[in-house]
Amino acid sequence: MFKSNKALWDKRTDIHVDSDFYDMESFKKGRNALKSFELEILGDVNAKTILHLQCHFGQDTLSLARMGANVTGLDFSENAIEKARLISKEMHIQASFVCCNVLEMDQYITDKFDLVFASYGICGWLPDLEQWGKLIADRIVEGGRFVIVDFHPVLWMFDDDFKYSYFNKELIAEEPEHTYTDKTSKVMLKSFSWNHSISEIISALIKAGLTLKRFNEYDYSPYECFNNLVEFEEGKYQVKGMEGKLPMVYALEFIK
Ligand SMILES: C[S@@+](CC[C@H](N)C(=O)[O-])C[C@H]1O[C@@H](n2cnc3c(N)ncnc32)[C@H](O)[C@@H]1O
Repeated sequence: MFKSNKALWDKRTDIHVDSDFYDMESFKKGRNALKSFELEILGDVNAKTILHLQCHFGQDTLSLARMGANVTGLDFSENAIEKARLISKEMHIQASFVCCNVLEMDQYITDKFDLVFASYGICGWLPDLEQWGKLIADRIVEGGRFVIVDFHPVLWMFDDDFKYSYFNKELIAEEPEHTYTDKTSKVMLKSFSWNHSISEIISALIKAGLTLKRFNEYDYSPYECFNNLVEFEEGKYQVKGMEGKLPMVYALEFIK
C-alpha cells in the first residue's frame, strides 16, 4: 500500500509543481506558503530547529526556513524530495530534506527538534497512529512542541454517497481520477488511506507522552481542494449548501 501511495505522490508532484494551486511563481517572489491557522500557533520560529513531516515538495518547509528556522523536511516521495532540494538550491534557501516513510523515520533521523510540524493531508495516509505518535514524541526535545494542522476527519466521510465512516473502521482503497490541484489531470493510480477520528489522533499523541495544549476547529478551509466549495472571503472556502455547518480544519498543539 505504501508503494502504491508513493507512486501516486511521485506522479502528483509533477502536476503540483506546475499548478496554479501551488503557484511557484509567487512563492519564488517571497509568498509565505503557510496559512494563518498554523502561523498563529507556530509563533516565532526564528532560530528554532524544526522537523517538518510529509513536507511534499517543500514549499512550507522553505517558508519556515525563510522565517529563520533551521528546518528538516521529510517525505517518502523521491520525486517530491528531489524537487524540494532543487527549489531550495535554486532559491538559496538553506534546508535539509530526508526521503523516508514517516513510520520508519527513527532509522533515518536521530536528532531531536524544538518543534515537529505537519499540515494538510497527513493522518489519512497513515494506518497506525500509535506508532506515529511515539516516533514523533521521540524526535522532540524536552519542552518542545508538536503542531499539526489538518483537514478535519469529518470531511473524509463524504464522497457523493456519504459512504465512509468517521471512525477508523476500514481501509479506503480508491483510484482517484484527478489530483486536488487540477480537476482535468489524469492520475489514475491506486490510493490507500485511513480515516482517523479526532479522539484517535489526540489519544495516540497523549499515549506517546505528549501533553495537549491547544485544540482548535475551524469552519472553513484555506485551500480550495474539494469539490463544491464557495469562497466566502478571499482565501476562505466552505462547502456549498453547508456553509458554517461543518468543521473543515483542526489544529493541535502538544508539549513534551
Ligand atoms: C497533501 S501532502 C502534504 C501537504 C503539504 N503540506 C503540502 O505542501 O501540500 C501529503 C504528503 O504526504 C506524503 N506521504 C504520504 N504518506 C507518507 C508516508 N507514509 N511517509 C512519508 N510521507 C508520506 C506524500 O508524499 C505527500 O507529499
